[in-house]
Amino acid sequence: MKYKSTPTQLEQVLPEDKILVSKTDSKGIITYANPVFLDISGYTESQLLGQPQNIVRHPDMPRVIFRLLWETLQNNREFNGYIKNLAKDGSYYWFFANITSSFSADNKLLGYTSARRKPDPDKLNYIQNLYSELLEIEQQSPDDDGMEKAQYKLDSILNSREKGYDEFVLTI
Ligand SMILES: Cc1cc2nc3c(=O)[nH]c(=O)nc-3n(C[C@H](O)[C@H](O)[C@H](O)COP(=O)(O)O)c2cc1C
Repeated sequence: MKYKSTPTQLEQVLPEDKILVSKTDSKGIITYANPVFLDISGYTESQLLGQPQNIVRHPDMPRVIFRLLWETLQNNREFNGYIKNLAKDGSYYWFFANITSSFSADNKLLGYTSARRKPDPDKLNYIQNLYSELLEIEQQSPDDDGMEKAQYKLDSILNSREKGYDEFVLTI
């Protein structure tokens, strides 16, 4: 079942004391969602489980950030980053995500866990400007060309700060 929400300007600000958790298999198919994630996203458990995690993708998010997310996980590192999600009712919510991998005893990848929490509003301001710039670059060129240009922009910001992405995102 595919749900398609129309984005609205209604924001849900996450409570300070809540963590939104979901787990996926190795392909990004949702296998678990905690009650807070269900509540904020507006889906029931049966609507969410078995769906790709991009069911909550917001069109304002630059594609390059998701490429970075998957490359980071595939390189056996944990991903930290800011993401804007789309709820079923069209509202949006920003969060800081920590995504980690789980392995079996014989080192087979079992899946991933994302723990999302309320972002620092001052940092979010910077991220919102950065992401809208990256999105605009992506939208100016078709297909992967736009994403490469957005990657170039992101890399140039990181280089000017002499930071890798991990350090950048944790210290802005
Ligand atoms: C554990 C885990 C949690 C994820 N959580 C989100 C999320 O909350 N929002 C989101 O847009 N993408 C999330 N993703 C990334 C999605 O799998 C997907 O790459 C992204 O939504 C972009 O989708 P698209 O490439 O189809 O546009 C998550 C991935 C993993 C592995």
